Amino acid sequence: KTPLIISTDPGIDDIAAMTIALFDPAIDVKMIVPTWGNVALNYTLQNTLNLEKFLNTKVPVVVGANQPLVRPAISAASVHGETGIAGFEFEKADDSLVEKGLAATKMHEAIQASPEKMTLMGIGPLTDLALLFKQYPEDLEKIKEVVIMGGNIGHGNHSPLAEYNIAGDPEAAQVVFQSGIKIKVAPLEVGNKAHVTPEQMERIKECGEVGKMLHAMFSNIHETDGSNLIKIFDPTAVGIMLHPELFTMKEANVEVELAGKYTAGATAMDFLSDKPNAEIAVDVKTDEFADWFIQGVKIAEQG
Ligand code: BDR
Ligand code: CA
Repeated sequence: KTPLIISTDPGIDDIAAMTIALFDPAIDVKMIVPTWGNVALNYTLQNTLNLEKFLNTKVPVVVGANQPLVRPAISAASVHGETGIAGFEFEKADDSLVEKGLAATKMHEAIQASPEKMTLMGIGPLTDLALLFKQYPEDLEKIKEVVIMGGNIGHGNHSPLAEYNIAGDPEAAQVVFQSGIKIKVAPLEVGNKAHVTPEQMERIKECGEVGKMLHAMFSNIHETDGSNLIKIFDPTAVGIMLHPELFTMKEANVEVELAGKYTAGATAMDFLSDKPNAEIAVDVKTDEFADWFIQGVKIAEQG
């Protein structure tokens, strides 16, 4: 089993990604670090705890960053709802799974304690991963890889040229891309393509209680492209970690635009560079991906 730390900002699709990861037989989730992101930290933390109560999992939760490194926080409440998970109300969990301590330090301790190299997953702004890499550079050699949902090859969703997770904390993202560590990226484009059709939505609902929970939330994502296809961005990060064969991966050098007046947070992905620092998923087998996702919901259903 691959030991994994998840940095997340739930967020509807974050809930979906965590649900799959928590029960996948190839993954051992060691820690969840909710960060500010889609909505404020108090919501993302509570949503994480509530999800664990709902799923009856007991993974330690460590409180992450409540704002970006440099810039003011942004919000995606218009997409995910005021609480971050429009469409579903969890029973409220207490904070018994919360482990006290700074996120960077707690991640560092887990990385050092792990006999196997740790994998990190970033499906929100990358503030906490940047703090970890700055504070504990010795951990880099004990990390197997970082898998990220974020960035864009072409147009963005937060702004014309920037994707939400990277736009949320561009300075942090640049620290991560410059770390020299192995990075796999599921950018906005594969998220757009890894959609769920209305028919697949019904299959998710029929899985059981977990499926109904995801179906309720997915039905409430406010996307603006006018189609009836539900985009489930964050599970693509779990996908590239476990099933790269469902994607087309290409090496690129990624730099994050920090200075641009209109382009801050854009990821300049140079596929021709002879100094690649990341592997980018440039395409996905849409139906196979959806089948894999639905299978993951079924596994989660069995607990
Ligand atoms: C990303 O932004 C957030 O709104 C989603 O949770 C996902 O991580 C997509 O751009
Ligand atoms: Ca997210």
